[in-house]
Amino acid sequence: MFLKTVIAVEFLASSVFATPALRHRFKRQSDSDVDSFIASEGPIAYKGVLSNIGSAGAGASGASAGIVVASPSKTDPDYFYTWTRDSALTFTALIERLIAGDTTLEPTIQSYITAQAALQSVSNPSGDLSNGLGLAEPKFNVDMSPFTEAWGRPQRDGPALRASALITYGNYLIAKDKKDLALSNIWPVVRNDLAYVAQYWNQTGFDLWEEVQGSSFFTIAAQHKSLVQGDAFATALGQSCENCASQAPQILCFLQSFWNGEAIISNLGTSGRTGLDANSLLANILTFDPAAPCDDATFQPCSSRALANHKKVVDSFRSVYGINSANAAGSAAAIGRYAEDVYQGGNPWYLCTLAAAELLYDALYQWDTTGTLAIDETSLPFFKDLDSTAAVGTYSANSTEYTSLTAAVKTYADGFVAIVQKYTPTDGSLAEQFGRDDGAPLSAVDLTWSYASFLTAIDRRGGAVPPSWGESGGNQVPTSCSGGSAAGSYATPPAIAW
Ligand SMILES: *[C@@H]1O[C@H](CO)[C@@H](O)[C@H](O)[C@H]1NC(C)=O
Ligand SMILES: *[C@@H]1O[C@H](CO)[C@@H](O)[C@H](O)[C@H]1NC(C)=O
Repeated sequence: MFLKTVIAVEFLASSVFATPALRHRFKRQSDSDVDSFIASEGPIAYKGVLSNIGSAGAGASGASAGIVVASPSKTDPDYFYTWTRDSALTFTALIERLIAGDTTLEPTIQSYITAQAALQSVSNPSGDLSNGLGLAEPKFNVDMSPFTEAWGRPQRDGPALRASALITYGNYLIAKDKKDLALSNIWPVVRNDLAYVAQYWNQTGFDLWEEVQGSSFFTIAAQHKSLVQGDAFATALGQSCENCASQAPQILCFLQSFWNGEAIISNLGTSGRTGLDANSLLANILTFDPAAPCDDATFQPCSSRALANHKKVVDSFRSVYGINSANAAGSAAAIGRYAEDVYQGGNPWYLCTLAAAELLYDALYQWDTTGTLAIDETSLPFFKDLDSTAAVGTYSANSTEYTSLTAAVKTYADGFVAIVQKYTPTDGSLAEQFGRDDGAPLSAVDLTWSYASFLTAIDRRGGAVPPSWGESGGNQVPTSCSGGSAAGSYATPPAIAW
């Protein structure tokens, strides 16, 4: 098998050819290289996230308490605003770390929730809270006043991502015997966001890159997860989510239409792109459920669909970036948003490259948990790139095939982290992008989401996973899809005290 061959060459290289240059040339990226990068970069990423959160963060001067700035960069590009999406994803990473034992994060998490409760009632160009429309405003000024210039709005992933972040913390409170706090401080905010999703999921909006108006796979996947999670959260609090149970299956039904048989077409109702987009990788890691099997319906990371799509998306970047010229299929590559991208030069992004790694770490977790790895015709091309002898079949954890296939996937995943390592400057700072031909950091400096994506990728590599969101109770696709909307009610969250 491919892996054994490489080890043999490496062994030859180290024993027969003793010169360092040759050893380097033949050397596979070893675990220890990635391990030492993670050991140094992990604390930098953690600090990088906290530095961009108001009011104490060094990079967030002027931001209200609990407000995440996307980047301290104020010119070319000006990212000194707070985005609902970036904030929710960043706090999801921090909430997972709290659950894993980092209790120092709890006051910051609580100030995020206090800030979001207040932001929900800030009228803005998308609308206000009376009919929910204002909840999908993508960004605000860092003092929580509305941003009134032209923008790609609405962005309907925001309410869903925020609901999921808050529910994860709410479930932690319930587990800590603090149900009253979850009910008084979290439910009123979550309730509005869930009502928004149930009412507006079947309308078009701007994608997570804020560029195209249509239906975005990332948005629809986030919305489905939030309603499944929200229904159970409501029940745990003795409440009910008015329209969660009726709308979630229909959102899942619509989600299926992004799959074209070979890949995920990330944006529907738009034109001019292939549809291969890191949108899908980010969606797959967002809806990863560690308790789920390799389910195609929800595009779990170990599903055949997610792996086939991973290959298509990664391959789409091999020929477009100069720095990928030596990275043939089967070896990791620098990943951007989508191949046709021209924004700020259209370069690879750290967070997209890390998402490609994280998806594979998630898949490894699921194979190890279920004790089996299955290859079918859909996923075969993905596996063949890593091991030319790979064949359709079901391999149990005690088989040699399982051992070598999972080792090859782990090596492949680590390769994406090694790419990030290669193009991270010596001070460890992570910008938004790195040059397509020279790998030099570009666009916004110290991007909060870049740092957060590093934290979640290395947490998954280390086997730390988020709590289940209940995929097993929400993975039944209706036999026929119907669109629609369930009108909800909205209420200003009461003042919060922790
Ligand atoms: C491997 O595991 C499977 C399923 O648990 C079992 O049926 C089989 O006997 C095992 N094979 C070996 C060689 O241990
Ligand atoms: C609404 O849902 C229906 C049924 O899944 C689907 O055909 C339609 O494309 C959806 N439209 C939007 C904008 O979500």
